[in-house]
Amino acid sequence: MSRSLLAIRTLPVADIESLLELGADLKARVLEGRGTPDMSRKVMGLLFFENSTRTRVSFEQAAGYLGMRSSNFASSASSMSKGETLKDTVLTLRHERLDGLVMRHSSSGAAVLAARHFGGPVLNAGDGQHEHPTQALADALTIRERLGRIEGLKIAIVGDVAHSRVARSNAWLLSKLGAEVRLVGPPTLLPNQAAMLPGAIHYDFSTGVEGADVVMALRLQRERMEGGVLGSVREYASGYQINETNLRSAARHCVVMHPGPINRGVELDDESADGPRSAIADQVTNGVFVRMGAYVWCFEG
Ligand code: NCD
Repeated sequence: MSRSLLAIRTLPVADIESLLELGADLKARVLEGRGTPDMSRKVMGLLFFENSTRTRVSFEQAAGYLGMRSSNFASSASSMSKGETLKDTVLTLRHERLDGLVMRHSSSGAAVLAARHFGGPVLNAGDGQHEHPTQALADALTIRERLGRIEGLKIAIVGDVAHSRVARSNAWLLSKLGAEVRLVGPPTLLPNQAAMLPGAIHYDFSTGVEGADVVMALRLQRERMEGGVLGSVREYASGYQINETNLRSAARHCVVMHPGPINRGVELDDESADGPRSAIADQVTNGVFVRMGAYVWCFEG
């Protein structure tokens, strides 16, 4: 039996651990030139109904390392631009005998809907403001590599939590693994029903990052904002930009993260984005390996 990877919120801790172990093991295999599982009989459909570079390429790379074939679909070039529903698109791909789907979509819940109709594994590559499970897995693997553990760490997720699926998946995953999660940002960019997400709310940057082992910045999701919830970019940056000066209250070994794409000079300054604290490049690299792990996990069932 195969299974889908749709959300972290509903995923048992044992599965999160298996996915992270698979990712770490596959990384070691690839880097050491050892063999990886042969999944060359599988064909994946990559459906990206929203712009993406890093996530799409990462899923393609992961498929390539496992010998899988993948076919790309973009919404502008698919029959959905002719009015076909997501359900019918998914059913068509099922009848064309694709083995699995990776899907990014602007609507929260789209991956769940696809999984209901597809009949094989669906991997959620980001659905609206809901979840982005493989990004959170990449981030967790990166934190473990840098700091050796997740349990007991103080992790500040800073910025546009309200619109961010990355923040949601990370808040769930990191708190399930025993971290103390803090959600830091201006009131208009933090979720208004904070109780729906695990994590303590901090409007004040310096108390939010005090003693933090990890500070994770989020992109300002301007395409999702309605009605001037962001005063101005300059005002945001003066209160919440991560830079060497305002990280002084964080732990000395503090790791700086960002899921990308970065708005340089807004969420992070150059020094924190490119300096020794930054784990941003590792997040990208680990994305490939946790996605390999996710493919194996989905098909192993
Ligand atoms: C994120 C996404 O698309 O959710 N990017 C990514 O996949 N690494 C974050 C973002 O768009 O800001």
